[in-house]
Amino acid sequence: MRASSHQGPASSADADTLCVGLFEGAGAPADLDSALGGKLGRLVESGEAKGTLKKTAILHPEGAIGAARVITVGLGKQTDLTPERARIAAAVSFGRARDAGAKRIAWALPEGADESIVRALTEGPLLAAYRFDRYKSSKDDDADGGPQQLQMVSERDVAEVVRQTDIVVEHQNAARDLQNLPANELTPAKLADHALGRAAEIDGLEGEAYGPDEIASRSMGGLQAVAQGSHQEPRFIVLRYDGGGPGLALVGKAVTFDTGGISIKPSGKMQEMKMDMSGGAAVIEATAAIARLGLPVNLLSVIPATENMPSGHAVRPGDIIRISNGMTVEVNNTDAEGRLILADGLAYVAAEGAERIIDVATLTGAIITSLGSTYAGLFSNDDDLSAALNDASKDTGELVWRLPLHPDFKELTRGKVADLVNVSEARKASSAYAASFLEEFVDGTPWAHLDIAGVAWDQDNREYVGKGASGWGVRLLVDLVRQQA
Ligand code: BES
Ligand code: MN
Ligand code: ZN
Repeated sequence: MRASSHQGPASSADADTLCVGLFEGAGAPADLDSALGGKLGRLVESGEAKGTLKKTAILHPEGAIGAARVITVGLGKQTDLTPERARIAAAVSFGRARDAGAKRIAWALPEGADESIVRALTEGPLLAAYRFDRYKSSKDDDADGGPQQLQMVSERDVAEVVRQTDIVVEHQNAARDLQNLPANELTPAKLADHALGRAAEIDGLEGEAYGPDEIASRSMGGLQAVAQGSHQEPRFIVLRYDGGGPGLALVGKAVTFDTGGISIKPSGKMQEMKMDMSGGAAVIEATAAIARLGLPVNLLSVIPATENMPSGHAVRPGDIIRISNGMTVEVNNTDAEGRLILADGLAYVAAEGAERIIDVATLTGAIITSLGSTYAGLFSNDDDLSAALNDASKDTGELVWRLPLHPDFKELTRGKVADLVNVSEARKASSAYAASFLEEFVDGTPWAHLDIAGVAWDQDNREYVGKGASGWGVRLLVDLVRQQA
């Protein structure tokens, strides 16, 4: 589904289904009510249509306006309205519209809705409409394809906000496709092809992907060690976009399948480890969106991509490897592979002179225990960058919660026979330990690490996401760059 805009009264929307938000304790929007001959007002008075958050009601205008049905959805109290509440209500209205057989939906924007609310009301339905059914021979529900278009209607000109939001969500949904693709389809080489495809189709975006030889000649020992157990070749993907602003580097973990390697994972739910490339997907698609929007930033995005498999070639517990910045690591657990490939990614962007670095990774199971699928864990050596991410998090609903770095955690990363160990014997503070390990490779650059193991999948506490892939991070990273612009 794609979004467009239309300037004019709600009654002039070109759609079969018109969605309208109601506030608690307020009546029906006057202009729409009069176009409907007072029907909407009577529905509110009767108590059937309510402003209570997420409550829906349906009304049939019978020719009074172009749309065959009007769906009301509660937005809660007007003073409590946040972008997140708007996003949720709009997603709920979308579900109701889809159930009613809607093909063309319009949304009557509340008077005075600011940019962040317009954006959220557009995002809710576009994200909720996402389906991954390309491998289903018969598409049981939505046999006819479901709603095809979303028109945002307002007396004000919202064309540019809607256009931008449509692009950002297109890329967020593309990230969800990448997450959903099984590992036999989405190999590291295929992910690189996808990223290079983005570079080819978007003006100003340049891409290259290093294969095994170049990874070896660049001494990327972390990526090499993880990849050596697999028949699939690794790729080190590099995207560059110069929008003429400050320098930002993004690093995304892309383990296309994480078995754990020789330190193999239990088999229950192991199939979900096809999503261990979620950070890479978010970085590729956020980079594409930023370039398409032409935002003023100088962006360097890198995505180390590999499988983590057990085999006769696989890296063993106890093996000592060397990262591209020269540091040695004793690999005491081959399931702590993300930090090894990110180490090479971080060292690369630090050496390129990045002014700020953000890495995005499904790094630890422990972050799921700590923050569920509500917040991503944020670790940072820089208060300003942390605050900027926190701000972006408020508008986008992609929440982050800052957790501490501490010399104690750093101490745990120190090795006896190598500079570092990739897991600590003490097994304490798993998420913070991993962050401290990553910090070794940023060379003092302002840096933030987002551990998205919890939020990348099964955000079923968010009506606009639901079970499975969330595409988490695309909205957040675009918003961060937009705010700094
Ligand atoms: N990819 C996993 C983390 C993960 C777990 C992501 C669950 C999504 C859902 C990561 O590579 C991993 O295996 N981490 C280990 C580290 C441990 C061995 C120190 C973990 O958290 O158990
Ligand atoms: Mn692992
Ligand atoms: Zn992993």
